[in-house]
Amino acid sequence: MKKRSPRLVFLAAPGAGKSTQARRVAESLRVPHIAMGDILREEVAAGTELGRRAAPHMDAGELVPDDIIVRMLAGRIGKGGFVLDGFPRDRAQAELLEERIDGVDGVIVLDVPEEEVVRRLSGRRECPQGHVYQLEDNPPAEPGRCDVDGEPLSQRDDDRPGVIKNRLRVYEEETRPLIEFYAARGVVEQVDGTGNADAVTERILDRLRAPGPPSIT
Ligand code: AP5
Repeated sequence: MKKRSPRLVFLAAPGAGKSTQARRVAESLRVPHIAMGDILREEVAAGTELGRRAAPHMDAGELVPDDIIVRMLAGRIGKGGFVLDGFPRDRAQAELLEERIDGVDGVIVLDVPEEEVVRRLSGRRECPQGHVYQLEDNPPAEPGRCDVDGEPLSQRDDDRPGVIKNRLRVYEEETRPLIEFYAARGVVEQVDGTGNADAVTERILDRLRAPGPPSIT
């Protein structure tokens, strides 16, 4: 019998590498990558009503209210597998997800020290098409220009020091407690998120291939 496609959640501090890793893992497992932050930024850029309501919360580094998140996610989580990145972020969202689907198969928690996530976020630059760089670890060949499409690189508004600090506070208060929520369900895979991105991807995929409840074969 064919096994169901994996349903994974990435849960980690801002800048820990959720998007970088979730994209690669989704590609490797051939399931959709659903990135809440990207969905929000697309709605903001398109100037939709939901985007306009979300923007001030994002600029302040606060969570966007659940009614907006739920409406933006509607129809994106189907019956098949997925890699969720940036959702759920608090207990209410985790419970909503439990109601919507019959549990997740694995929750990847990336461990990265706070000074390292601040360093990564401070040096993050991206182009309008979403290609992401890190000025120290993965700089563009030509300063300020995307290697892929030549478009100008910019810094995310919420990567300013004061906002980074608030995002980290919100993570500690609202999101980190979900590790316990999912540990009680036996689906947490804690992975060292330090070192280069390729090494982190290998660690995650090794963990998913290993025997045990959250593993994917
Ligand atoms: P979101 O876009 O999800 O932001 P975040 O969770 O703060 O995460 P980041 O995108 O900053 O970091 P990341 O962990 O994905 O790291 P990345 O791979 O980019 O959300 C933004 C906002 O939207 C929130 O603050 C909130 O307001 C709102 N929001 C989103 N979801 C919500 C929800 N469910 N409910 C309510 N509100 C919500 O990597 C970071 C940098 O490091 C990059 O430059 C990258 O190139 C680099 N890097 C990655 N891996 C490595 C490595 N191994 N070594 C060196 N550099 C690395």
